Amino acid sequence: MQSLSPVEPASRAVLDYANYTEPTFRGEFTADMQRVSPLQRHHENGIARLRYDPKAYDFRALVGEALAAAGMIDRAALADRGDQLELLHELVAAENQVMDHSQQSAAARALYEMPSAFAVLHERLLAEVVVPALGIGRAHLQRTPTFRVFFPKAPGYLGATTFHNDIMIGHNPRAVNVFIPLVRCEASRSLLLAELAPSLQLLREYDYDFARFGRDTQDDRALMERCERICQPLAAEVGDIVVFDSRCLHAGPHNKTELTRVTFDTRILPVAEIATQGNAYQGRGRRRADFAVGAYFTPHAVGAPVAR
Ligand SMILES: [Fe+2]
Repeated sequence: MQSLSPVEPASRAVLDYANYTEPTFRGEFTADMQRVSPLQRHHENGIARLRYDPKAYDFRALVGEALAAAGMIDRAALADRGDQLELLHELVAAENQVMDHSQQSAAARALYEMPSAFAVLHERLLAEVVVPALGIGRAHLQRTPTFRVFFPKAPGYLGATTFHNDIMIGHNPRAVNVFIPLVRCEASRSLLLAELAPSLQLLREYDYDFARFGRDTQDDRALMERCERICQPLAAEVGDIVVFDSRCLHAGPHNKTELTRVTFDTRILPVAEIATQGNAYQGRGRRRADFAVGAYFTPHAVGAPVAR
């Protein structure tokens, strides 16, 4: 459990969260926040745990290749350590471990450029393991997953823990989150994740005003304590996959362990979900990413046929 030290204004995380007020948009949005989602029908707490064979989908080797190609590590030195990414802090220069305001270090940014084999492996994992297991029909896939590298002590981590869900940063409430650890995750070397019911209770109390919620996560002690109580560290091994409803609150905490966290996360958007959706979602921030099929999500869908 992290301590709740007072947050200096200058060290606050910069948060730009949505507050949807246009009546038509808000009507559908609010209904989506309050409904029973397809994932929830099979997993009442909004969280599903799956397994895959990490030897058949060797993501860790590809991360090693990408870091070596960017000049961040000596590939042979990582291989000597059995490609254990939890030891990356021994190999990456200190200045490349420091996080910027968006919690990305130079080493993490190097993973924006993954070898092309990664995209193939990512799609195979989702098509062969994840989507068929969920019972929510075929789904479009996020084109480019996001890597998180939190070095021990996470130099540069700003402000208080950024409790949120991805809907707050503009994502579609009908999307589903997929978390894939590439190291053994526990305690603060992991994702903090809340079950669906307490997440929704809290967000309802804020009337889905995520801008106000985001501000309060940084300086309202009562909210911070409540988020800490409901968002628990995921314990997960390499080979685990954690799928969760996009309405679940979560956070990437300050890594206070002695080992490096390397995980990636991706999203799926079920085909059956977009067929009935009027709202179009886009990212917050400068780029206003288009979260549509054919843009952020692949034009094609994978997985089992839609369940009847
Ligand atoms: Fe998130």
